[in-house]
Amino acid sequence: MGIPAFRSRPGHCRVPAVTDWFDEHAPRHVRSLDVYQPGKPIEELERELGISGAIKVASNENPLGPSPVALQALPAALSQLHLYPDAGGFALRRAIGARLGLDITRIALGNGSNDLLYQLVLATCEPTDEVLTHQYAFLSYRLAAQVAGRPFVAAPTTPELACDIDALIAAITPRTRLVVLGTPNNPTGSVITKAGAAKVLAALPARALLVIDEAYAEYAAAWPEVDHVDGLALMKDDRRVLVLRTFSKIYGLAGIRIGFAAGDKAVLDVLGRVGRTFHVSSLAQTAAIAALEDNLHVAASAAHARRQLERMQVEIAGPGVKVYPSLANFLLIDYGRPSPPIYDALLRRGVIVRPMAAWGLPNAIRVSVCKDSELERVIETINDVLAS
Ligand SMILES: Cc1ncc(COP(=O)(O)O)c(C=O)c1O
Repeated sequence: MGIPAFRSRPGHCRVPAVTDWFDEHAPRHVRSLDVYQPGKPIEELERELGISGAIKVASNENPLGPSPVALQALPAALSQLHLYPDAGGFALRRAIGARLGLDITRIALGNGSNDLLYQLVLATCEPTDEVLTHQYAFLSYRLAAQVAGRPFVAAPTTPELACDIDALIAAITPRTRLVVLGTPNNPTGSVITKAGAAKVLAALPARALLVIDEAYAEYAAAWPEVDHVDGLALMKDDRRVLVLRTFSKIYGLAGIRIGFAAGDKAVLDVLGRVGRTFHVSSLAQTAAIAALEDNLHVAASAAHARRQLERMQVEIAGPGVKVYPSLANFLLIDYGRPSPPIYDALLRRGVIVRPMAAWGLPNAIRVSVCKDSELERVIETINDVLAS
């Protein structure tokens, strides 16, 4: 395999000094944090560029909108906003448990699934414990480790940028505490196979956990012919597996912030100790309980994403262009040349994509699915810019 796993060092990624105080007194691991660059709101970009009618395909949101069943449930919750939310999230955990066939002690709620990931690092890792993933994994895995000041390790991937199971296993050390794998992974869209996950578990030290981030699992379900691991099934057989799920993607509730972890009761118990009280709002809990019943929205969104990805995979083309296979609601496109000018040209034409330089992919952009009425324009604009 040859390429060693990346290991973070304090200060490996310097952020410009903010103040003298910051330089002198802020903890070293905080000074060296990578800064997450969120995409700008569409209105802000339109104002900056003096354009209108822009299409944002940059954040893997659901272009079909929020679950209509969730929207119907929200007004009734408004009259209760003077009350603190249910800190134990009992009704929602019961609803999730009933849906997944799990006792509620095996479910924990978070302010989005990212929140749970950060909690997990704090709750499980001693200062020298390592968080391991692969080189092109979701950026939050690295950030969660860095925020907690824990060593972060990224194993090399396959040439297709997917998780190389053997390289990942080779990067496991006695200090490995969390192995975090997204499936489908953001930004590559690649999945972990059933055999791959089993191999990782077989190599996992007894003290470590395998965290399977299934933010896009409901989209992957629309591809039954492709072998990919079912984290929840794996979790039922092995106490060391923890699954993260979110309502941000297929349920269309990214703005209300709600996700959950499913895992062993003892692991969730420690997770609960570092979480803040009342961090999952009552509106989020109400919306999620309702959304869980919205089979129609889930099915329509998954089918819509698959249809669009299949079309984009065929129609986005050009010399040197590579479109990676994806089972999520976005595609990674490599141009074989630096993507910033391509990103800028797309922006000026009102198509907002995600540049991938921060992921270490300077030649790539990520494009999310869009409304059907927008697809033609997105494909045409991308191809025009590629040809120019
Ligand atoms: C792989 C992956 N995991 C987790 C998340 C975070 O989701 P949430 O909104 O639940 O924090 C995202 C969001 O883009 C994601 O792509």
